[in-house]
Amino acid sequence: MLLKVTDLVVDYGAIRALHGISFEVAEGEIVTLIGANGAGKTTTLRALSGLVKPSEGQVWFDNRRIDGKAGHTVTRLGLVQVPEGRKPFSDMTVRENLLLGGFNRSGAEIQAAMERVFQSFPRLKERLKQAAGTLSGGELQMLAMGRGLMAKPRLLMLDEPSMGLSPILVQEIFSIISEINRQGTAILLVEQNAYMALKVAARAYVLEPGRVTLSGPAQELRQDPRVKSAYLGE
Ligand SMILES: Nc1ncnc2c1ncn2[C@@H]1O[C@H](COP(=O)(O)OP(=O)(O)OP(=O)(O)O)[C@@H](O)[C@H]1O
Ligand SMILES: [Mg+2]
Repeated sequence: MLLKVTDLVVDYGAIRALHGISFEVAEGEIVTLIGANGAGKTTTLRALSGLVKPSEGQVWFDNRRIDGKAGHTVTRLGLVQVPEGRKPFSDMTVRENLLLGGFNRSGAEIQAAMERVFQSFPRLKERLKQAAGTLSGGELQMLAMGRGLMAKPRLLMLDEPSMGLSPILVQEIFSIISEINRQGTAILLVEQNAYMALKVAARAYVLEPGRVTLSGPAQELRQDPRVKSAYLGE
């Protein structure tokens, strides 16, 4: 397994946000965590990427134990988070934001990485000199993902990439997610849009306040009556 999480507990002061969740992602796989507001999706990603310290449990990435390690260390290993809300450095240009994403790369690799990002997001190439703060919501999501790709992820963690996007753009972002995966990057996708998430993912976990309540192949969960009524509006 590329990523293996066991019995992860996260507390914010007196509030327990995760009550011991376990899940895994194989090399090259797309796995989704679906759940309603406050289920603990963002908390899970933050715990994996070193932004919050778990109280209990273990995180293994590429056979190394990484829980409690600093964010930059985790990123260097290839576990890269694209944060929710896609906040760029607004005063910096698109190009400067992308370069920040490639902080862990050698000079020679950076241009190649950038070209790779432009293949997925041609629109970013047209806007390299634009201040990131003036991008549209869709372009910001592209920039956030592009910045993540610059860091050479082996596992890219996406926090609600479809949030606030028009239906056409949602389709486009999900097809780019599939394409990034086809080129060999594993993906951990956190989504409220269970319909789209279950369509692109191989496997899924349902998170209900702080606990994994269901898991299995995405196609099976799409047919599960509990998932249908709670997450698919059927
Ligand atoms: N910094 C914090 N301090 C205290 N509680 C927090 C903090 N961050 C999150 N929480 C709480 O932890 C729980 C899980 O929050 P989290 O942001 O992980 O949920 P989520 O599944 O990502 O929700 P959403 O779909 O709304 O983004 C919530 O009850 C939230 O209020
Ligand atoms: Mg969240």
